[in-house]
Amino acid sequence: MEILEPKQGTYQLEDYSRTRETFDWEQTKEAFSWNKTGNVNIAYETIDRHVDEGRGEKTALYYSDASRDEAYTFQAMKEKTNQAAHVFKDLGVKKGDPVFIFMPRSPELYFALLGAVKAGAVVGPLFEAFMQDAVRARLEDSEAKMIVTTPELVSRIPHEELPHLETILVTGDSSKADEHEKYVSFDEKMKAASTDDSAIEWVDLEDGFVLHYTSGSTGKPKGVYHVHKAMLQQYQTAKWVLDLREDDIYWCTADPGWVTGTSYGIFGPWLYGVTNVVRGGRFSPDDWYATLQNYKVTVWYSAPTAFRMLMAAPKEILEKYDLSSLRHILSVGEPLNPEVVRWGWDVFGLRIHDTWWMTETGAMLICNYPSEPIKPGSMGKPIPGVDASIIDDDGNELGPNEMGNLAIRAGWPAQMRKIWNNEPKFNEYFAIEGWYVSGDTAYKDEDGYFWFQGRNDDVIMTAGERVGPFEIESKLVEHEAIAEAGVIGKPDEIRGHIIKAFVALKDGYEPSDDLQDNIKKFIKSELAAHAVPREIEFKDKLPKTRSGKIMRRVLKAWELDEPTGDLSTMDDA
Ligand code: WT7
Repeated sequence: MEILEPKQGTYQLEDYSRTRETFDWEQTKEAFSWNKTGNVNIAYETIDRHVDEGRGEKTALYYSDASRDEAYTFQAMKEKTNQAAHVFKDLGVKKGDPVFIFMPRSPELYFALLGAVKAGAVVGPLFEAFMQDAVRARLEDSEAKMIVTTPELVSRIPHEELPHLETILVTGDSSKADEHEKYVSFDEKMKAASTDDSAIEWVDLEDGFVLHYTSGSTGKPKGVYHVHKAMLQQYQTAKWVLDLREDDIYWCTADPGWVTGTSYGIFGPWLYGVTNVVRGGRFSPDDWYATLQNYKVTVWYSAPTAFRMLMAAPKEILEKYDLSSLRHILSVGEPLNPEVVRWGWDVFGLRIHDTWWMTETGAMLICNYPSEPIKPGSMGKPIPGVDASIIDDDGNELGPNEMGNLAIRAGWPAQMRKIWNNEPKFNEYFAIEGWYVSGDTAYKDEDGYFWFQGRNDDVIMTAGERVGPFEIESKLVEHEAIAEAGVIGKPDEIRGHIIKAFVALKDGYEPSDDLQDNIKKFIKSELAAHAVPREIEFKDKLPKTRSGKIMRRVLKAWELDEPTGDLSTMDDA
């Protein structure tokens, strides 16, 4: 078995085994000001605490894209987020209200998001690529009263159909804000707002601060609700797993529309007080290597698809850059192939550390650590303070190397506290007494390392993004030509999986390349670019159960040329 030994050095988690025995989450409280003052707010701990502790002049944020290049100190971030908190409060936001943020990455996104949390709101970040239907579904479900967006994205918010939505804050000059009575200029409000901290809402550790919509295999996207107490685990994993030190320059490539982009693009690093790099715009190997070089990034958290794309790019691109500042690399979101780990070792001289967690878990749970050996292909071992196991469907714990459900002993600090407006869905995760069942299949080897095997539902992980087949199928059948649709993930070298749709056409429509393109455009313009099926296959009929459910299992078997298994429930078998 191939093992990559740790590099000599000192690390924030020196002794994994001993820490597992002695650690208690009570110890993490010491890091926070609420431990002394009793005043709780994760945004205060993320920004203001560093000013209180004498780090106000330290750079908190480096932001750049094709047209901007800016830096903000913790003092500046404190003032901007205080102003944003005033804006929300003046417009009537109360503790617990959902406030959505629908913007591409920009400093204003970070001001608005943290300002809303300061004001006591529960923030719902929406990925910028969402189109009207995806936006509508999330705003409808959450009954949000307020959203912040940009002039480019505002037309995707169908506010006439969203009676709860009272206020749409639009960034940029005030011209857009004049177009409708629900529109308000965010920039004008910010300019007029005080920088004092009187708009901070002190909350309870169990009050919500973020609502991330994510997909399951059935039904609409669900709102995963996290509470301020998550800060304990975000801070502790930023220390142990990201291995942050005071002078680190940290870059997380995830967008705050996804949980990695909040838990480790905002909260983890800033709770720890390091300098955070945010790069706007799209991925390209040149742009990413330049970002690493120009900011002298030391700690880099990214995803397998990105590493695979870098790996596939011509070597000459890599050779142009000096990446010697890098000290620690991490990955999340999909299985990290051993060959990617080997590539990282070859080109950076560093091990890529895989981490496993989910939107629902709020923070990292199973990880590789700088001080521990890495078995390439393994997700690593549970963090101290958390128990993970492999269990069967009845909740019995399985032995070494036996495959089963990856489950976590319920009750870790960053665990989701509810699914918005959907208690039955929430309870499904905890149906086995004492456990959170993840939906992933895995095994644990004799050394306690966990090995990912797959999802045991139909959720598709494509390019590190999680898409539910149901949302795409529902949209597909709204297309004028489509009678039935089934969507699966098809294994892909670079993206992990791509989305593949099987469709049966209505009478009077014939399969054609034009029709394929038209269907792709339809999904792209109404749902989201990342939800577009890269492959569409026309079928006369789709396999269905007698109750009319599309059998994705059979579609997968067709695709992979595997046996279709038990077809006794299939209609017309
Ligand atoms: C699903 C959760 C929160 C991180 C971003 C994804 C898959 C996550 C790994 C890994 C193999 C992984 C799982 C999980 N996943 N990390 N290290 N190795 N698979 O969060 O969108 O909520 O998706 O991502 O299938 O259940 P998410």
